[in-house]
Amino acid sequence: MDVKKVMVIGAGQMGSGIAQVCAMAGYDVFLHDLKQEYVDRGLATISKNLTRQVEKGKLTEDEKASILHRLTPSLDLQHASEVDLVIEAVVENMEVKTKLFAQLDEMAPAHAILATNTSSLPITEIAAATKRPEKVIGMHFMNPVPVMKLVEIIRGLATAEEVYQTIEDMTHKLNKVPVEVNDFPGFISNRILMPMINEAIYALYEGVATKEAIDEVMKLGMNHPMGPLTLADFIGLDTCLYIMETLHEGFGDDKYRPCPLLRKYVKAGWLGRKTGKGFYTYE
Ligand code: NAI
Repeated sequence: MDVKKVMVIGAGQMGSGIAQVCAMAGYDVFLHDLKQEYVDRGLATISKNLTRQVEKGKLTEDEKASILHRLTPSLDLQHASEVDLVIEAVVENMEVKTKLFAQLDEMAPAHAILATNTSSLPITEIAAATKRPEKVIGMHFMNPVPVMKLVEIIRGLATAEEVYQTIEDMTHKLNKVPVEVNDFPGFISNRILMPMINEAIYALYEGVATKEAIDEVMKLGMNHPMGPLTLADFIGLDTCLYIMETLHEGFGDDKYRPCPLLRKYVKAGWLGRKTGKGFYTYE
């Protein structure tokens, strides 16, 4: 299978990063979102990232221009009919994703692979919304995408070997390291990371320590590059809550119960960095 053209759906933090690394690796990319302003914001982020690379001498102005040239903004899902691979990076919600995959299945060419960047949702269930479950796969990038090396690759129950190989090869071409993981809630990354973040929020909720103290303990004591509450703000508190809900529902164990403080912040619209306020406040 030869991938040349890619469509990235969702131009948020993850989608814009995925579109950037695909364009940098020479793929032609549609960057799609619901509104022009969202696509523009995604493209502006990419342009800013590339400018920083030019300033550091890692990229020439010409290279930056040709990377940007490979990116085409899209508001029309029908562009899926022109691509070999779709990578979905919309909100972490099963209903939204299955509806989208059913539409993409109608529009994309028969040979096209439909990948999802879901953090935690079952690939098998997303695949079941299509008539091509053998061509559906999890391609889980880490945030920030241009920096982080890992891509978790998750096969659904029906994913074809050839599809897995194609995505593994492409991950190498993106200059990333693929790691194969089975289809269980949260895969490996978020099954281990998110309960730690949730526990940090419980510690804050129960008044065990201040947010700064909790982050400082994990940074200096465990050598984590950032504390769990800072990381939660970075990921997005809505995404953290969705993932905890998926773990809670998927395993049915109380140890995955989302902290009420997390729910409260999300209800307030305090989603972290992307809204300017989460556990911390951002300019
Ligand atoms: P985000 O909130 O920054 O971006 C989501 C984008 O999707 C928004 O621009 C929104 O307008 C768009 N969108 C929503 N519904 C849509 C639809 N039906 N069609 C087209 N566009 C639509 O969210 P973020 O952080 O980029 O997360 C996206 C996905 O990536 C989620 O599934 C999340 O779990 C996953 N993910 C997130 C990570 C993180 O650290 N934030 C890390 C790895 C995966």
